[in-house]
Amino acid sequence: MQNKVLVIGSGGREHALAWRLSLSTTVSQVFVAPGNPGTSREKNIKNVAIDINDFRAIITFCKDNNIDLVVVGPEQPLCDGVVDSLTNAGINCFGPTADAAQLEGSKTFSKEFLQKNNIPTAAYESFTNQDKAIDYLQKQNQYPIVIKADGLAAGKGVVIADNFNQAHDTVADMLSGNVFGEAGHRIIIEEFLQGEEASFIVISDGENFIPMATSQDHKARDDGDKGPNTGGMGAYSPAPVVTEEVFQKTIDLIIKPTIRGMKQQGTPFVGFLYAGLMIDKNNNPKVLEFNVRFGDPETQPIMMRLQSNLDELCLAAIKGQLNLCEVNWNHQACLGVVLAEKGYPNQYYKGSEISGLESISEDSCKVFHAGTAEKGGKIVTNGGRVLCVCALGEDIELAQNKAYQCVDKITWETKYNRKDIGFKAIKSEQS
Ligand code: AMP
Ligand code: GLY
Repeated sequence: MQNKVLVIGSGGREHALAWRLSLSTTVSQVFVAPGNPGTSREKNIKNVAIDINDFRAIITFCKDNNIDLVVVGPEQPLCDGVVDSLTNAGINCFGPTADAAQLEGSKTFSKEFLQKNNIPTAAYESFTNQDKAIDYLQKQNQYPIVIKADGLAAGKGVVIADNFNQAHDTVADMLSGNVFGEAGHRIIIEEFLQGEEASFIVISDGENFIPMATSQDHKARDDGDKGPNTGGMGAYSPAPVVTEEVFQKTIDLIIKPTIRGMKQQGTPFVGFLYAGLMIDKNNNPKVLEFNVRFGDPETQPIMMRLQSNLDELCLAAIKGQLNLCEVNWNHQACLGVVLAEKGYPNQYYKGSEISGLESISEDSCKVFHAGTAEKGGKIVTNGGRVLCVCALGEDIELAQNKAYQCVDKITWETKYNRKDIGFKAIKSEQS
C-alpha cells in the first residue's frame, strides 16, 4: 500500500508530522495545506495553498488527488468539525469529531467530564456572571489562583493571579468579552496546582490507545522557567519526571477513564489525545488541561524518535484497529530548542532574514520551520516562534549539546531563544 497523505496546518508541529510521514515506507506523497517554507523544501512534500477553514476546498483537493489519509495539526479546524465534514464526504480524516474536540474547545466541558469520571484535576467553578465570580474569589481568598477563558484562546486564555486585585481585573476583563471575545464569555476559576508539568500524548481509536513517547515542554519564555507563558519554547523526549510509577498512574487514573468516559457518553475520542499533567511531589498526576491534537513543540522531538509508520497508525485508529498495532521508538533522547522573535509572545518584528540554515547538516540537527516565510528566495521570520532546532543524543544532555551547537549557527538580528532547554531533565538524569 502506498498512501497519499494530506497534513493540515502550517506550524512546526505540522512540519514534523509531514516530515515523519514522508519517511514512512507506506507513503508515496505528502501534501501540506498550507505548509511553510520548511515543508516546501522537503523531498516528497508539496505545499498546497488551501484555506484550512474552507472544508469544501479540502474535500475537493482530497477527491481530485485520491488522498488516502488526512492528518489535522491544529485545534481550531478540529473544534470546527473538519473531521465530521471530511468523514461524511468519505475521506479518511484522522482526529476527533467536533463533539469530542470539546475536550479542548471548552474548559467547562472538560472540567465537567473530568469530575464526572473521577479523574484527578484541580478543584474549580465555572462562571458567566461577574458578581458571582468575584464573590467566589472573595470566599476562596487563596493565591495564586488560576482563571481560564472557556474557549480556544491560542494558548493565551490562562491567567495565574497572585492577588485579589489581579484576579478581579482578569475576571472583569474576560467576562466583559473585552479580551478573548466569545471564548471568554464563560470562565473557570481553579485551584493552583504545584509540581512539575509533563505532556502525556496517546493515539486513540475510540477504545484502544497507544502512548506516544513521553515529553515535556518549557512554557515560560525566559531561562529558569521565568517570564510570560508561551506556546512552548522548547521540548524534549523522554521526560524523566514520567517515571514508571507516574506512567502507570497516568494510564490507569487518567487515560483509561478518559477514553472509556468519552465512549460511554457517545463521543468516542479518535485522534491524538494530549493530557497536560501536573505531577506533585508524591508522584500523583493531575490533569491541567486536555488538548485534542499533538503538542507544539513536543511533536518535533517525538517525531524525531518515532520509527513506526505514522500513516499506518492513523489509518488503523480510524478503523478502530489500534489493538493490532505496535509503535517503535528510537532509544535515543531528542531535544528541540525554539528560536523565536524577540518580544514574543507580545509584540515582535517580522521579516528578518535568517542566515546559517544551509550550514546545518541533517546528521547533526533537524530544523523544523514554524513562523517563516519566503521572500525573494530568502527565508525570513514571519511569526513569534520561528524555528525549532532538534537533535538526538544518547541522553538529554548530549542531545542538548548538539541542538545548541546548531542553534548558534542560525542567526538573525532579533533572534531570541532560551539557553537552558532541558535543564530540569538533565538535573534528574544526573541524580
Ligand atoms: P492550560 O492551557 O490549561 O494548560 O494552562 C496553560 C499553563 O498554565 C499550564 O501549562 C500551566 O503551566 C499553567 N496552569 C494551568 N492551570 C494551572 C493550575 N491549576 N495550577 C497551576 N498552573 C496551571
Ligand atoms: N506545547 C503545548 C501545546 O501544544 O499546547
